[in-house]
Amino acid sequence: MAFQETYPDMLKLYRRRHNELEVLQKLMDRLSNEYPVLDRATTCLSVGTGYGEYDIEFIRRCLPNLKTLIAVEVNHDCVLELKANLHSNFGDKLNSEIHEMSIGEYMQLYDDHNDERTNEPSSTKNNLNLKNLPNKEIDVVLALHVIYFLNKQSRAQFYKKCFGQWLRSEDGLLILANVTDNHSMVKLANSFKPYSSLTSTTIKDELIENNVSIVREFNYRCPVDMSVDTVDLHRLFKYSFKDSNLSEERIGEAVKIIAPDGRAFHDCDLCVCIKLN
Ligand SMILES: C[S@@+](CC[C@H](N)C(=O)[O-])C[C@H]1O[C@@H](n2cnc3c(N)ncnc32)[C@H](O)[C@@H]1O
Repeated sequence: MAFQETYPDMLKLYRRRHNELEVLQKLMDRLSNEYPVLDRATTCLSVGTGYGEYDIEFIRRCLPNLKTLIAVEVNHDCVLELKANLHSNFGDKLNSEIHEMSIGEYMQLYDDHNDERTNEPSSTKNNLNLKNLPNKEIDVVLALHVIYFLNKQSRAQFYKKCFGQWLRSEDGLLILANVTDNHSMVKLANSFKPYSSLTSTTIKDELIENNVSIVREFNYRCPVDMSVDTVDLHRLFKYSFKDSNLSEERIGEAVKIIAPDGRAFHDCDLCVCIKLN
């Protein structure tokens, strides 16, 4: 299997090991039936959109009347593919604003905007038109497989921004997909001190602390084929833990322990969240 260096290619190789997309498609159809508010949604903020694989699927299945997508994605290769994928899926029917920046930087724009209103110096200079920062106008925030990349402080800020500044107060929904403790990559991370991955258990506790309620939760399991070449696992590991010098061989040895028969699990949660009054 030829290895290509970009993050989208790494992710695609890992995703070939399991059938999460197929599982999510069925769950998204159920959400679409259960939440009529999704049908009426016109504005969506997607964070960590990647090249758009799951997020575009969500829009296609659950948000048929979407007019505006705001995407915040930090990886340049993902942004390039995302633009092409949005165009091939929606053409000119969807107005998309793609911000190539981290979620932290996007949140900072709001804080700078507030600073400007109070005449305090702003810390981030960005050529975005600040008037375009939606304020309580978003119907759906999508955060599929991204919260675990954020540190504790950013996560706390993210929950506050979702429900204090972005989502409509009456019926805005936050949709999350996160990994559980039994996820193949979480187990791989746990094989090596001091690495560990954040899982849905912690995220759910944090949501409760922030007065956010999970109103629908799907727990799903996809078998992962760990029997083939570990080059993508090694690269994904290095992407998640930038300071890691672990060799591909050591990753391969750990894979044999967590998946002795060549099979592991991609165990995840898909959650719908609202703010409790
Ligand atoms: C596992 S991918 C998920 C992509 C997409 N949501 C999907 O499920 O198909 C995680 C994405 O989040 C992006 N990401 C990670 N940390 C980020 C951050 N702090 N700000 C913005 N994007 C981030 C990565 O570049 C990557 O594209």
